[in-house]
Amino acid sequence: MSTALFEPITLRGLTVRNRLWVPPMCQYSVDARDGVATDWHLVHYGSFARGGAGAIIIEATGVVPEGRISPEDLGLWNDEQERALAHVAEVVHAHGAAVGIQLAHAGRKASVEREWGTTNPGRSVALTAGGWATVGPSALAYPGLAEPVALDGPGLDGVVAAFADAASRAFAAGLDFVEVHAAHGYLLHEFLSPLSNLRDDEYGGSPQNRARLLLRVVDAVRAVIPQTAPLVVRLSATDWIDGGITVAESSQLVTWLGEHGVDLINVSSGGNAPARIPVGPGYQVPLATAIRQATGVPVAAVGMIDDPWQAEQIVATGLADVALAGREFLRDPSFGIHAARRLGADAEPLIPAPYRRGYRQAQGGR
Ligand SMILES: Cc1cc2nc3c(=O)[nH]c(=O)nc-3n(C[C@H](O)[C@H](O)[C@H](O)COP(=O)(O)O)c2cc1C
Repeated sequence: MSTALFEPITLRGLTVRNRLWVPPMCQYSVDARDGVATDWHLVHYGSFARGGAGAIIIEATGVVPEGRISPEDLGLWNDEQERALAHVAEVVHAHGAAVGIQLAHAGRKASVEREWGTTNPGRSVALTAGGWATVGPSALAYPGLAEPVALDGPGLDGVVAAFADAASRAFAAGLDFVEVHAAHGYLLHEFLSPLSNLRDDEYGGSPQNRARLLLRVVDAVRAVIPQTAPLVVRLSATDWIDGGITVAESSQLVTWLGEHGVDLINVSSGGNAPARIPVGPGYQVPLATAIRQATGVPVAAVGMIDDPWQAEQIVATGLADVALAGREFLRDPSFGIHAARRLGADAEPLIPAPYRRGYRQAQGGR
């Protein structure tokens, strides 16, 4: 049966085999704290490709050391990190999936302890324990975390240059696309949102001013990546708080992003301040659809899309162009194959030859 979910999608020069992708998910697993991908990352990302995902977006990866969420995050500011990611890209490509990477600066939410094996999970790492001073648009802390230093002009230039450098390293490593992380209360979102951006210079105040840093980053990244390569931006379409970012403002921003050469918006929400979020199946899909309808820019929907028919319906009815499944792929790394089979799509090409016997009916195991 033909399905919309398992139709290829083309963004610029990249054709991806289907529209069921894996969103970025931090693994906090670089125990050496040097930002270099490990065997864990090879197995983790390789298994989603082996399991039929269309594209995989590698987790939030710091463009500078102080831009990592935790000391155990990936980084992409040196040659060793680039080489390790090249190996991940090779493994993913060998299994037929496309691979991108989320380039990130965690801003005022950087330098926090990972969820396991730490004394204060989610709290600021002590400077004496390998933590670092954080930066943000303003000297305003995220509740419960250390107060950041407001970035000055040279600091902002450094952030823009670091995103561009990491993006060119991503392509040198053989990745297919990059996603700029401007969601979840990290640095670029902190600039976008009036809840965290109290500046009175050209980076604060009006929506145009708050978007200035993100647009500078997008321009700098676009300038160093191949013309044929898609550029993705992840946004929190709403802060879910009065006085914060709204879907209407995000739609205006997405129009600008489209004009600046962004090809796909990964539509998430929240993360910049504690908020009541109406979580439930597909709860962020309407945000993606609203942005797609207002701007015409392709969107990826995400958030509790756990069921193949739900993902199919989202893509088939034009609510979004791509469906991202995060935790479902953690539970079932072969979710791509399993979704294709449940929908009656042609799953055979997704199943690696040595695994095909695992899917044959009514045959002896020998
Ligand atoms: C373990 C884990 C790590 C995550 N790390 C990131 C990340 O690195 N960058 C990001 O933008 N979102 C991150 N997220 C959010 C996911 O990309 C996704 O938006 C979220 O899990 C909702 O989708 P789901 O319901 O399909 O899991 C993470 C989520 C999980 C569960």
